[in-house]
Amino acid sequence: MGRRPKNKTAKQNALEDKRERIASARMIPRLRGMRDILPEEYRYWELVLNKAESIVKYYGWLRTEIPVLENLALYERSTGKQTDIVSKEMYAFIDKDNDRVALRPEATPGLVRSYVEHGMFSFPVQPVKLYFIGNLFRREKPQAGRYRQFNQINLEMFGEASAIADAQVILIGYNLLKELRLEAQVQINSIGCSLCRPEYVKKLVEYYKQRPVHHKLCPDCKKRLLKNPLRLLDCKEEACVNARAGAPQIVDHLCEECREHFVKVLEYLDELNVVYALNPHLVRGLDYYNRTVFEFCSEDSEQGRQNALGGGGRYDGLVEYLGGRPTPALGWALGVERIILKIKESNIPLVDTCQSNIFIAQLGEAAKRKAMIFFEELRKRGYKAAQNFVKDNLKAQLEYANKLGVKLTLILGQKELMDGTILIRDMESGMQEVFDFKKVYEELDKRLK
Ligand code: HAM
Repeated sequence: MGRRPKNKTAKQNALEDKRERIASARMIPRLRGMRDILPEEYRYWELVLNKAESIVKYYGWLRTEIPVLENLALYERSTGKQTDIVSKEMYAFIDKDNDRVALRPEATPGLVRSYVEHGMFSFPVQPVKLYFIGNLFRREKPQAGRYRQFNQINLEMFGEASAIADAQVILIGYNLLKELRLEAQVQINSIGCSLCRPEYVKKLVEYYKQRPVHHKLCPDCKKRLLKNPLRLLDCKEEACVNARAGAPQIVDHLCEECREHFVKVLEYLDELNVVYALNPHLVRGLDYYNRTVFEFCSEDSEQGRQNALGGGGRYDGLVEYLGGRPTPALGWALGVERIILKIKESNIPLVDTCQSNIFIAQLGEAAKRKAMIFFEELRKRGYKAAQNFVKDNLKAQLEYANKLGVKLTLILGQKELMDGTILIRDMESGMQEVFDFKKVYEELDKRLK
């Protein structure tokens, strides 16, 4: 409580105390761009995460965790100092030990660090296939599908350079979206390697420096031309989209090895029936990529909407750059919130696999005790049962069972307890029958078949 002037009456002081109590009890809202996931929405999360886990595990990927907080230098060196993510969006600060730290804005650098730090190049099973599901932080301008705390499913493969790896990694993401019944298209490009890209970038800069073209560029792109010319190709500003029409395309400037690799990736994708579109302007916003880059886009992309459900590519130089041995690597990340938004928009119904089909109702203290033991037995035997033991009133319990949409309610009362029976009520017809308690499992199996 604050210091009070001495001349106030006891009543005035009491009133002020009350005001302060109310003020301090006032709700403190969540921060901008942060979201709560309520149980209703969480059903979508379960759908997406369960599907993702079952698919990636099937292909042999293993789950891994990395810290939320890492050394800031990790992102500066890998994601890239000049990228929007690091230069504008990262939650970075100096902690009380004077360490420069950052909340992870993406998972790939942390996964690479973990690969190097734990000497995974010597793990018995190679290539090393890791997946990660977790939250990331970017201080972006919030809008639908773009938040400051969001979640990704990441899939990374370390130690494999062949084109079949690119195709398989892409296929897994594609299959996941397809099995979630989302119409997604893979957009793909190759951005070459450190041998062929510099030559291309020179040509690109020459093109953009021509007066009539340069004149049209947005102010950001004028800066990008000096620092990161490739990014001019994926600027969304209308003027820059128009300006890039005559720009040289990197696929025409790939070295022989990069070209061969890319052609093979596309051939594998054709054979695997993955629907893709070549996008010569796709360069991705992070510094570490080489060769294949791709994005999973929802098909009905509206102007200005966040339509990339995910993206990824090869990063063959990053492991070495972060202190490891030369190790080819690649991967992708899918945005969980964006996928869920898309599922909702597409009105894809949720199949609730966990929904209970039996409700246990009880009447009277002794019956309640028996019902609780019975409920535990049902759980052990694998039945999907629900209860509301805090309620004593039978009508209230039946209303609750109705809301849950169960098929059967099993009722135990004083009489049933004495007779060694149980009542089974069919919730749809309202019909109730008495059964010998010993035969209850047999009867349940018959009715729930
Ligand atoms: P990214 O393109 O920055 O790639 O992000 C991948 C996906 O995360 C996006 O397509 C989007 O679905 C989701 N996402 C990104 N930012 C937000 C946001 N602010 N709100 C909601 N969703 C968002 C990477 O992060 C790379 N590390 C991917 C990768 C893995 N490359 C190789 N391996």
